[in-house]
Amino acid sequence: MRQTPTIPPAEITRQLALCDQIHALLDQTPGQKLAFVDTYGCQQNEADSERLRGYLARMGYAFSDTEEGADLVLVNTCAIREHAEHRVFGNVGALSHTKRRHPGQVICVCGCMARQEHVAQRLRQSFPYVDLVFGPQLLWQFPQLLLEKLTTGKRVFATQDVPGAVAEGIPVVRQNPRKAWVSIMYGCNNFCTYCIVPYVRGRERSRQPEDILAEVRELAAAGYQDITLLGQNVNSYGKDLDRGVDFAWLLEQVNAIPGDFLIRFMTSHPKDAGERLFDTMAACEKVAPVLHLPFQSGSSRVLKAMNRGYTREHYLDLVAQLRARIPDIVLTSDVIVGFPGETQAEFEETLSLIEAVRFDALFTFIFSPRRGTPAEKLDDPMPKEQKNANFQRLLQRQNQISGEKHQAYVGKTLRCLVDGQGEDGRLTARTAGGRLVHLAAEPAVIGTWQEVRVTGASTWALFGELAAR
Ligand code: SAH
Ligand code: SF4
Ligand code: F3S
Repeated sequence: MRQTPTIPPAEITRQLALCDQIHALLDQTPGQKLAFVDTYGCQQNEADSERLRGYLARMGYAFSDTEEGADLVLVNTCAIREHAEHRVFGNVGALSHTKRRHPGQVICVCGCMARQEHVAQRLRQSFPYVDLVFGPQLLWQFPQLLLEKLTTGKRVFATQDVPGAVAEGIPVVRQNPRKAWVSIMYGCNNFCTYCIVPYVRGRERSRQPEDILAEVRELAAAGYQDITLLGQNVNSYGKDLDRGVDFAWLLEQVNAIPGDFLIRFMTSHPKDAGERLFDTMAACEKVAPVLHLPFQSGSSRVLKAMNRGYTREHYLDLVAQLRARIPDIVLTSDVIVGFPGETQAEFEETLSLIEAVRFDALFTFIFSPRRGTPAEKLDDPMPKEQKNANFQRLLQRQNQISGEKHQAYVGKTLRCLVDGQGEDGRLTARTAGGRLVHLAAEPAVIGTWQEVRVTGASTWALFGELAAR
C-alpha cells in the first residue's frame, strides 16, 4: 500500500517564519496592507482559501472585499466547466485596470485552473501583470512563493506536476463564525471520463484521523454549530492510510465529540456508498439527515461511458436502502445533460430517474468538454439546441418536484440554525437537512438554534416564524 506523503512539520514551521519575513518587509512602508481573496468553484476551494487567508493574516494583511485598492489579490480558480474558466479569465483580465490604478498591487492566481498547462501558458503570455501562479498541490508553499516574487520582482510560476501530499498546521481564517469546512482528504482517483479534477488535484490522499478529530474538537469547543467534512469522494476516506479506518468509522468518531453541532459531508460517490454508511448515518445523532449523492445520468450505458462504476438499478437500490433507514432524508444530486453520445432515449432515462427518486434539490449541468479528459475526444452528435431543450425540461420538472417537496414542510415545526440576515431584512435559517428558511424574527436570534414553524414554501426556499414556546 502506498503511503500518503506528509509534509514534515518543520517545513510548515519554515513557511510560517517566511510569513513573518514578509510581514517585516510589508512593514517597511506605512499603512495597513489589504488582501482580497476571490474564490471560485467548490467547497474544497473555499476551504483552501481559508488556509490561504490564514497565511495572509500571519503576513500582516487585513482583508478587503474588493480588488480595488487591495495590495494583494489572490484568485483561487475552478476548472470544472468552460463557463467557470471564462469567468476567471474575464475577472483576471479586468485586474489589469485595477493594477494600473494601484501599481504596487501583487496579483496571484492559484487553484485548479493554475494546474493546467494551457492556462499557465495563457497567463504567462497574455496576462503579464499576473505575478504569481501556483496549483493546489503547492498551496502549502504560498509564503515561500510570494516571498520569492516580492524579493526578486520576477514573476513566479509554480504550476508543475508535483505529487500531492498532506500538510498540517497551516493557519486558517474561517469565513463564517458558525459553519466550518473540514477537508478530510484531497484529490480524486476516480477519473470519471468527463472530469478534470483528478488531473488538477492529483491522487486521493487522506488526512490522519487524529488531525481531523483534533480540528473538529477545536471547532466544537469554539462554538461552531455546523461542520462539513469535505472530499471529492469521502467514501474512499482512509483507503490510502493502511490503518483499517474508513469513512463510516470517522463519522462515528466525529459524532462522539462533545458539543451541539451538526455534521455534514460531501461528496459521496454511489459506487462507494452503501449500507454501512447509511446505518452509521442513522445511528449518529449529530449527522444531519441529508445526503448529496450525484447520479450524473439515469442511463446505465451513459454511466459506463462516464466510468462511474455503477448502474441505474444500483443507484435506485441505494436510494431505497437509504430511505428504509432514514425515511425523511433530504436527498440532493448532480446530473450532466448532453454527455457525448447521449441519445434522446438515454436523456429520457435521466428524466425518469428524477421522477422515480424525487430529489429535494438537483444541480444540473450541461456537459462541458475539458482538455485532456477522455470524454473530450468522444463523438458528440447531439445539436446544442437539443441539449439546451433537454436541460430546460429537466430543470422545469425538477423545479416542480422541489416545489412540491418544499410544500410538504408547510405546517411543520423544525429545529433550525439561524445564520444571518438577508437584504430584505428577513433572517435566514437552515433546517438540519440544509433547506433554506426565510424567517420573520428579530436579529437577536442569529447564531442560535430555534424551533421554526414553516408557514409557506417556494421552489427554492421555505418561509417561517419562531414557534411559540
Ligand atoms: N466529486 C464530486 C463532484 C465534483 S464536480 C462527485 O464525484 O460527485 C461537481 C459536479 O460537476 C459533478 O458532480 C458533475 O455533475 C459536474 N461536472 C464535472 N465535470 C463536468 C463537465 N466536464 N461538464 C459538466 N459538468 C461537470
Ligand atoms: Fe470528478 Fe468523478 Fe472524481 Fe467526482 S469522483 S471529482 S466527478 S473524477
Ligand atoms: Fe472546481 Fe477544482 Fe472544485 S475544478 S469544482 S475548484 S476541485
